[in-house]
Amino acid sequence: MVNFEYYAPTQVVFGKDTELQTGKLVKEYGASKVLVHYGGSSAKKSGLLDRVCASLGEAGIPYVTLGGVVPNPRLSLVREGIALCKKEGVDFLLAVGGGSVIDSAKAIGYGLFNDCDPWLFFDRQTQAKGCTPLGAVLTIAAAGSEMSNSCVITNEDGWLKRGYSTNYARCRFAVLNPELTCTLPAYQTASGCVDIMMHSMERFFSHAKGTELTDGICESLIRTVMKQAKVLRDDPSNYDARADVMWASSLSHNGLTGCGTTGDWATHQIEHELGGMFDVAHGAGLAAVWGSWARYVYQEEPEKFAQFAVNVLDIPAGKKSAEDLAMEGICAMEDYFRSIHMPTSLTELGISPTDAQIEDMAQKCMHFGKRTIGGFKVLKAEDVVKIYHMAK
Ligand code: NZQ
Ligand code: ZN
Repeated sequence: MVNFEYYAPTQVVFGKDTELQTGKLVKEYGASKVLVHYGGSSAKKSGLLDRVCASLGEAGIPYVTLGGVVPNPRLSLVREGIALCKKEGVDFLLAVGGGSVIDSAKAIGYGLFNDCDPWLFFDRQTQAKGCTPLGAVLTIAAAGSEMSNSCVITNEDGWLKRGYSTNYARCRFAVLNPELTCTLPAYQTASGCVDIMMHSMERFFSHAKGTELTDGICESLIRTVMKQAKVLRDDPSNYDARADVMWASSLSHNGLTGCGTTGDWATHQIEHELGGMFDVAHGAGLAAVWGSWARYVYQEEPEKFAQFAVNVLDIPAGKKSAEDLAMEGICAMEDYFRSIHMPTSLTELGISPTDAQIEDMAQKCMHFGKRTIGGFKVLKAEDVVKIYHMAK
């Protein structure tokens, strides 16, 4: 087990009707004026936004609203949000939505607190010294941004999708009402489930040894989400399945499933470029490239993939070699993705990048020669090009 720090300061308020506590929570965290940040139409249509705003009103907290966050959230709206917050004297950010809305709020918080353009942080030109406090009312179980230290933003100038992670951007609180996710389209539910699984898989595929407890937590979380994603495929309003998936969203990306491992994250970096260039749903993009990544890297340590095959996918070990088990597991995982109507190739994802676009994505993925990606196997631009081609 490698040394680690585990820091998960977010207050979780979980269960039915919990959004009605939002005003009280915001007040407890000392807000004097709030930006209520939201997405396209879902939070308005469901009445959630009205309930949240009413709760702020009851707590006597003044607020302004800014909607319009799109999936793969854009820098231009972040900048608009910063200007609005400055004008209105906002000192607390409330994200009502999914990972995109929360990340947009985090980026606004970075810009507001540091009084600069937040892209400087995503471009690694300087480090943030803080972030305006924020909280979240989550409407989709997926990205885990409600408890993570990450923030992922797309800069329309060059369509660069970049992440930036610090503990400053951890939500003060996360309101998690699983019922709010019942209005999700089936595709978004399944895509979210893949993202949740993948946040633990990225941590699981590591060469660190002596991680039995962390591996066990990972395996259990992934198995549970796999099971409940199928339940939701057939019964979208099943509360207990929604609840398991929502709690898994937070636990899968708050660091718990990576304590003592080193993590990989190449699948995420490879997918982020697809999101930046083709605007695909993040989880679906992960499903589309994971099998190709796995085939490209498994020989670095087939035993770890064999462990995954046996412990997560219930493949009988018998007298099979680690290599055979690893390959069987990769195929079984892809079968599973298909069973919840998730893509396992770029074609199934609905995109067909040209050779030039693949080269461009690989270069962007390496921040134009400034980094490599992956921990299980370190990948350079030429490796990423091969993986995109394998995923076609
Ligand atoms: O905009 P609205 O109308 O709300 O529609 C959204 C959006 O179209 C819809 N939706 C959300 N809740 C709903 C709903 N529709 C009906 N009923 C509801 N209750 O779902 C669509 C997707 O929403 P989005 O917020 O984009 O989903 P998700 O949570 O998957 O977030 C994806 C973004 O998070 C980033 C991804 O890269 C992507 O940009 N990630 C952020 C991470 C983090 N900050 O820790 C980690 C992740 O790995 C990921 O990279
Ligand atoms: Zn993700």
